Amino acid sequence: MATLNIAHRGGSALGPENTFAAFEKALAAGADGFEFDLHLSRDGHPVIIHDETLERTTNGSGPVGEAVLEELQKLDAGSWFGSEFTGARIPALAELFERYKDKNLLFNAELKTDIVSYPHLAEAVLKLVSRFGLEERVIISSFNWETLKASRTINPKVRTGLLYALEVENPWDMARELNCYSVHPLFFYLQNPETLARFRRESIPLYPWTVNDPEMMETFLNAGLEAIITDYPGELAQLIRARSGR
Ligand code: G3P
Ligand code: MG
Repeated sequence: MATLNIAHRGGSALGPENTFAAFEKALAAGADGFEFDLHLSRDGHPVIIHDETLERTTNGSGPVGEAVLEELQKLDAGSWFGSEFTGARIPALAELFERYKDKNLLFNAELKTDIVSYPHLAEAVLKLVSRFGLEERVIISSFNWETLKASRTINPKVRTGLLYALEVENPWDMARELNCYSVHPLFFYLQNPETLARFRRESIPLYPWTVNDPEMMETFLNAGLEAIITDYPGELAQLIRARSGR
């Protein structure tokens, strides 16, 4: 199977991360899906934004979870990236699913429950996954592995991915214990050929992030990884196309 080209934060080198401006550019560049980050608004809507607070990527301030959806969607989430993106909004997860449900995309929904716990986020996300019939196209990941457990309990039809940035001893065992479909390591941990070989022997799909260096993309394409999560889906698409012409 071909390696999936997954746009990190919706393609954060192409447009303001986690907005439709980025998602659209990523699709045009050849992405097969998106990785995006989720928090829960005060009125219970999963919203797509990376940080716990609004300052870095919007003209608002304060915690995401203290604002209701309507307030969040009045904010400008684009002009920090470039004046041509002024007016880009924070998308609700429901809007993303509505817009792309009929395209054959992979949605890697990262639940940001590692700093703010959002006890109802997994439930709210999985409700939308079911409502849009996207059980087979979503992978839930999180640095908070309790969220992965909760997700499996709420809806075992939806796959989960073991996400980590710090070293994990025998991550293949942890993935099995938590009933995860895939493992999403920081790319660094796959640079060790022995680790990579072990993952292949264990037959666990790999979704490394954030792979922006073309040489590393090639290495991972040669290894036949299931997916590569990148800020540069256009560059990765070119490498994939060049291989298919070989
Ligand atoms: O899901 C992989 C990656 O997105 C995790 O890091 O901080 O970019 O959400 P971050
Ligand atoms: Mg993320």
